Amino acid sequence: MELKGRTALVTGGASGLGRAVVERLVGAGMNVVILDREKSEGATVAAGLGKAAHFEPSDVTSPELVKKAVDGAVARFGGLHVGVSCAGVGAAARTLGKTGPMDLEVFRTVINVNLVGTFNVARLCADAMSRNQPTADGERGVIINTASIAAFDGQVGQVPYAASKGGIVAMALPMARDLMKNGIRVVTIAPGIFDTPMLAQVPEDIRRALGESVPFPSRLGRPAEFAALAQHIVENCMLNGEVIRLDGALRMAPK
Ligand SMILES: NC(=O)c1ccc[n+]([C@@H]2O[C@H](COP(=O)([O-])OP(=O)(O)OC[C@H]3O[C@@H](n4cnc5c(N)ncnc54)[C@H](O)[C@@H]3O)[C@@H](O)[C@H]2O)c1
Repeated sequence: MELKGRTALVTGGASGLGRAVVERLVGAGMNVVILDREKSEGATVAAGLGKAAHFEPSDVTSPELVKKAVDGAVARFGGLHVGVSCAGVGAAARTLGKTGPMDLEVFRTVINVNLVGTFNVARLCADAMSRNQPTADGERGVIINTASIAAFDGQVGQVPYAASKGGIVAMALPMARDLMKNGIRVVTIAPGIFDTPMLAQVPEDIRRALGESVPFPSRLGRPAEFAALAQHIVENCMLNGEVIRLDGALRMAPK
């Protein structure tokens, strides 16, 4: 699908990978709605990008708020063609820790934001996309979800996060099959370790060691590299129902 003049909604678009996608898509001539938490940097990011960007304070877990954001994107820009889910949270907790079993709320919260939130956004974006005029290829929309290599090589303390991302991986093919009649493609990106604010809290020596653990190139991924893949997915009509690892051949160790 050609990007120019079309509209994308990017969750988690105020920070890190989502922000890089927002900047790249606006640079390629798209209108973009940044869906992120009220307290995020969304307003500042949107203000820096001019009229093509709009900030929608929201929460991916809310059916009402996400519907409002999707309807608002259609009303403001005349349609919705691309939905990119980057909103996500992590949690470090072991199944059985020093003080006992993991608090079930920790597990529920991560699943709710990462997995339920991603599905909530995808189903509502698909509904709006289904009303688009198809392209010559019969395409009406593209949905990009963000998993993690933790879906495959989850480390100690990553059960909730790995389970949520594993769910996102498992959704790619059946969602693409569900939406084939509507001309909507679904592709999931599973990033390795990227240099985003999520990682900024990690001390410099550990960040360096994480970068050196990547076979090639031996460094942290750049958000712009994630955004470049997102753009390619939108433009390449043959990519569908697939999960793409973007990780420099990294396979995570147990810890
Ligand atoms: N950075 C990495 O190394 C890495 C690796 C693999 C996967 N990922 C995944 O990529 C995605 C983006 O990560 P990032 O590193 O850019 O993180 P980040 O913390 O920089 O950005 C995440 C954004 O999501 C938003 N968000 C969180 N909960 C939300 C909610 N309920 N509703 C709306 N917005 C919400 C946050 O406000 C934030 O702006 C996440 O899903 C993360 O799990 C990141």
